[in-house]
Amino acid sequence: MTVRVGVIGAGMIGQDHIRRLTEVITGAEVVAVTDIDADRAAEVAARVGARAVATGADLIGQPDVDAVLVTSWGPTHAEHVLAAIAAGKPVFCEKPLATEAADCLRIVEAEQAAGRRLVQVGFMRRYDSGYRELKSILDAGGIGAPLMVHCAHRNPSVPESYHSAMAAQDTAVHEIDVLRWLLDDEIVAVQVLAPRRTRHAHAELQDPQIMLFETASGIRIDLEVFVNCQWGYDIQCETVGETGLARLPEPARATVRSAGTTRTAVPQDWRERFVTAFDVEFQEWIDAVAAGEPTGPSAWDGYAATVITDATVEALRSGRTVGVDMKDRPAFYAGGAR
Ligand code: NAI
Repeated sequence: MTVRVGVIGAGMIGQDHIRRLTEVITGAEVVAVTDIDADRAAEVAARVGARAVATGADLIGQPDVDAVLVTSWGPTHAEHVLAAIAAGKPVFCEKPLATEAADCLRIVEAEQAAGRRLVQVGFMRRYDSGYRELKSILDAGGIGAPLMVHCAHRNPSVPESYHSAMAAQDTAVHEIDVLRWLLDDEIVAVQVLAPRRTRHAHAELQDPQIMLFETASGIRIDLEVFVNCQWGYDIQCETVGETGLARLPEPARATVRSAGTTRTAVPQDWRERFVTAFDVEFQEWIDAVAAGEPTGPSAWDGYAATVITDATVEALRSGRTVGVDMKDRPAFYAGGAR
């Protein structure tokens, strides 16, 4: 069966996912595209033989749209996801599920009322082979009970529009999701330390930041977010357990020896680092939709990420340790994958 997809938001990642759906993975076809920039929608749709439609609501209502991909701006996500649920159509929403926790809860409630999983949120690190290897080691008890995790999320540079809260909202949110999944544990409190600022950041941006998370079982996570590090897109994750240590593998790159030195290239951006994870994420989403129900990061995971992100922003602002004020997980989302 071919899953016919309608895409809301034909910007940077929307176009990349359309390429992925049409050129990289199997079992999918893009039939409709919408964007508030109608010219962009028309141009992107024409490229893949799809039609442009006027609005997200129009697109969701098209009878030949089997599943919806939301890649518009974050504050518009909730509206489109709720409309897709109301139409009973599976919807893949790029992160964040919604920028407000209350909107995430409305989505969670609507999905439960629909009685089956329809929503998947775009946390692609769960599809990275390195993180998957780490998870299988942890799940098999390969390092005993995890006690501490040391992480870093570094970008070479960010634009002037990037502000301090985005270190949590746009950057750390990926670790927040992948660590909840990796450890099968919930983050309950967060503190943010503000080291000496790099001179490569603009005056309003606290860069770097050290985020200290605590989980329900007492695991301590330290995450360095350093978005003007200059040298590359550098993702690190090391889990220390009672009997061993497991470290996220570096991306495979040749080692070059010349002029008396040994060199290995560091990826320069997230697209390069996680391109395969995105491909796997979409293949598995399409396969699951064709089989009946998505199985990846759920609306509940999207809610949890937004609540933890909010607590992290508040921890930076206040300088205090902030408890994560999360609702109890409904039975509908029990069992991790939900
Ligand atoms: P972008 O600004 O390049 O594209 C967004 C597009 O959505 C624009 O063409 C805009 O005109 C359109 N749009 C906005 N509101 C709309 C609406 N109501 N209806 C239809 N079209 C609308 O932004 P970008 O970088 O592509 O990001 C889109 C989303 O993807 C964001 O939520 C972002 O956080 C997420 N993202 C996720 C990544 C990941 O690592 N998983 C990486 C990059 C982006």
